[in-house]
Amino acid sequence: MDVTKLADGITKLSASLDGILFEGMWEIPNGVSLNSYIVKGEKTAIIDGFCDWEGVPEKLFELLDKAEVNLEDIKYLVINHMEPDHSGWIKDFKKLNTDFEVVCTKKAANLMKTFFDQEENVRVVQTSDTLDLGNGKVLEFHEVPNVHWPETMMTFEKSTKTAFTCDLFGTYGKTDFDFDDNLTDEDLRYLNDEGLRYYSNVMMTFSQQVKKAVDKFEELGAKTIAPGHGIVWRKDPNKIVQMYRNYIDYALGYGRKEITILWGSMYGRTEEAVREIEKYIIGKNIKVNIHRLPETNWGTMLKSVLSSSGVIIAAPTYEYQMFPPVACALEEIGRKKILKRHALAFGSYGWTSGLQKELDDIMNRYKLNWDFVDTYIFNGKVRKEDIDVIKKRVDALIDKIGI
Ligand code: FEO
Repeated sequence: MDVTKLADGITKLSASLDGILFEGMWEIPNGVSLNSYIVKGEKTAIIDGFCDWEGVPEKLFELLDKAEVNLEDIKYLVINHMEPDHSGWIKDFKKLNTDFEVVCTKKAANLMKTFFDQEENVRVVQTSDTLDLGNGKVLEFHEVPNVHWPETMMTFEKSTKTAFTCDLFGTYGKTDFDFDDNLTDEDLRYLNDEGLRYYSNVMMTFSQQVKKAVDKFEELGAKTIAPGHGIVWRKDPNKIVQMYRNYIDYALGYGRKEITILWGSMYGRTEEAVREIEKYIIGKNIKVNIHRLPETNWGTMLKSVLSSSGVIIAAPTYEYQMFPPVACALEEIGRKKILKRHALAFGSYGWTSGLQKELDDIMNRYKLNWDFVDTYIFNGKVRKEDIDVIKKRVDALIDKIGI
């Protein structure tokens, strides 16, 4: 639903987006929702908004109209997070209403200047500051920096114990329901999967800080989680909290007992070995995620690496170095700080192999503490004896994972 009552005086406005690359780079095969919230006391606040992509601010204005909220009645813009998927609409709003106050952290206030030339009527808040809207509605603010930008905060409505968490506890994926009231196992699997994809793309680099934010959130005693993306959790908010704790654990430690194969091949020599190894792992009833590069979007690749304790890198040598699409994917994994994995690399070469050197360079550059089984390289086509050796090394990898 695009306009949904959460509680007396609190309304959710929601739009779904698809057919875009989120943050300009992540595929979202199941779309993503943008949520904005209206809190009405004697005065009205809007908490977060929509992006400024074509037609989207107009959609928000349309929903405000449907929710019977007059733009001129909005007195406070509560900005939990300045990323333009939530703040982009402000430039359009400013053309229609000039009598409002922005409520945000100090770092967000600096961004309000640079993004929207907004220096006047900005109320900078810190943790535990409150804003009384009247009629019992009181907003309390809690800074949670680096979720995943430095200026982020949560807003807590005290009378209903609703936490507006913006990106925190967000998920990708569209649903035809607004709340967690009647989730089936299938719904939960879907939301967990979309949450994992979202977390790996957007949050993972900042897992230490996200962990602190989740800890802070749990001190609030919130009964309802109202995020900027995804559904509202009010029946059992602990479900999404636990999902996030799992994602954080995967990022800071190891993933589940499954294996991701990241591979590329120019003319099929490395591919032939990959296909044999994929069959071999499946034959052992181990879950395997397999992604050819560059064909697979990095968002999907990262989701799999986040959830997997074991990673197999299969790449030929190209111009004396690792096959570039695989090397670039590993660079991205390094930037996202997936620090610990059990791993194995193999691949073919023609006259000299560049696989190990570049692998070492990337691991050292990003200080990745991956625990590798010995790399295996083979010259030209893959032979039965090569496959036999690689299988033995896969067995060693599986031992390391503890499957
Ligand atoms: Fe949903 Fe960081 O923006």
